[in-house]
Amino acid sequence: MARLGFHSALMSKDASATRMEKIVSLCKRRGFIFQSSEIYGGLNGFWDYGPLGVELKKNLKDFWWRRNVRERDDMEGMDGSIIMNRAVWKASGHEETFSDPMVDCKVCNSRNRADQLPEKDGKKYCPQCGSRDLTEARDFNLMFKSHAGPLESEDNLVYLRPETAQAIFVNFRNVLDTSRQKLPFGIAQIGKAFRNEINPRNYIFRSREFEQMEIEYFCRPEDGMQLTDYWLEQRIKFYEDIGIPRSKIHINDIPDGERAFYSKKTYDLEYEFPFGVSELEGIAYRTDYDLGKHIEHSGKPLDYFDEATKERFIPHVVEPSAGVDRTTLALLCEAFDEETVTDEKGNSETRTVLRFHPRMAPIKCGIFPLLKNKPALVEKAKEIATALRPIMNVFYDEAGAIGRRYRRQDEAGTPFCVTIDFDTIGENGPEKENTVTLRHRDSMTQERIAISDLKNYLLEKIG
Ligand code: GAP
Repeated sequence: MARLGFHSALMSKDASATRMEKIVSLCKRRGFIFQSSEIYGGLNGFWDYGPLGVELKKNLKDFWWRRNVRERDDMEGMDGSIIMNRAVWKASGHEETFSDPMVDCKVCNSRNRADQLPEKDGKKYCPQCGSRDLTEARDFNLMFKSHAGPLESEDNLVYLRPETAQAIFVNFRNVLDTSRQKLPFGIAQIGKAFRNEINPRNYIFRSREFEQMEIEYFCRPEDGMQLTDYWLEQRIKFYEDIGIPRSKIHINDIPDGERAFYSKKTYDLEYEFPFGVSELEGIAYRTDYDLGKHIEHSGKPLDYFDEATKERFIPHVVEPSAGVDRTTLALLCEAFDEETVTDEKGNSETRTVLRFHPRMAPIKCGIFPLLKNKPALVEKAKEIATALRPIMNVFYDEAGAIGRRYRRQDEAGTPFCVTIDFDTIGENGPEKENTVTLRHRDSMTQERIAISDLKNYLLEKIG
């Protein structure tokens, strides 16, 4: 089949918006992402992941964990509670300062982030009704509040955590004492975070409930700067390894004066989303600020004693902090493609395909008996599916023409499909018996492979 790709890096604003709409529509149609509470009209800033979305997100989190925890001697994992003692947020500064500037529109009463208002002729206006009659900006704290226990009193006030990082800092001593780590070493965590964003937007990019993958890498003060650059490179490599090319990642070296006052260096890693280049991850050298604050507020010894030099000091920390949902969105945006394909008879159609890296693909292999009314084909196909299921997510499908089954898997981003035909069951002689057709999603080429080689072949591609 002839193919014509029309995904171009240089897209107009309209083309970018159309591309984003197509991605959102595909995600709903194929069960990646749904609006939360959809049957009741949804809830702004909240999303549900469907059968394919949850697999994609899980593959991302599992690979991050493998790369950053299992494959490293200098890293420990943990999983902290979402709700912590309010004192944690007083110490970290979140209760006082974790806010965005907000303005009200005096005409339509909508509330908007002051730093994201559209502007015309040097004057900001309301994005909802266009009015320029706006209140002064005031701080709006982004932490969701609740109460622990049956009494709704100030004493029982708690927050849903706005970042996973603080659970790591307050457990620094516990992890140090129970592991055999010495500086430099890191603690990694994946988990939910909640921010009552004033204007959630750009699909799952900015939501009110999301997941983070965070590392706090503790080190000697003199190593902080160099380790920040080390982590920058590690994190770019990670994105390459999940199919997001280095060329689409922008490094924003945050200048002096724009960083948090305690940070000596911060890089934002940004991706070319269809709606613009936007932040995926921050890599911040946070010095000894966080441990120092928790020592000050808790009075507990969160410092470090270096046996070799006999020094006692507060470790510094480098923090690579990534968003699960933003990376999932980047994976979807990077994978989405449409191309015109023409068959042997000259008929053209648009093929929609998600070109995920096989490692990230929600379904690794589609398994199809050529015909569903031939018990020998069905039996063989089910046997192959059963053998692969414990080690990868496969999809068994016997409905419809083979071409349509391939197209369905193209849209789901399945990198490989296997067809069990009459050659497989030895009806055309012994040479091709126990071989199957392996079809490749990206090139649409097909090859013959022995069933006995299939598992290792697939494992090598998705590993
Ligand atoms: N502990 C540091 C920290 O939380 P951050 O830059 O506020 O830093 C880190 O957040 C990452 O979390 C961001 O780079 C982004 O990927 C993700 N993130 C933050 N707010 C988000 C939101 N409202 N929706 C989705 N992801 C978000």
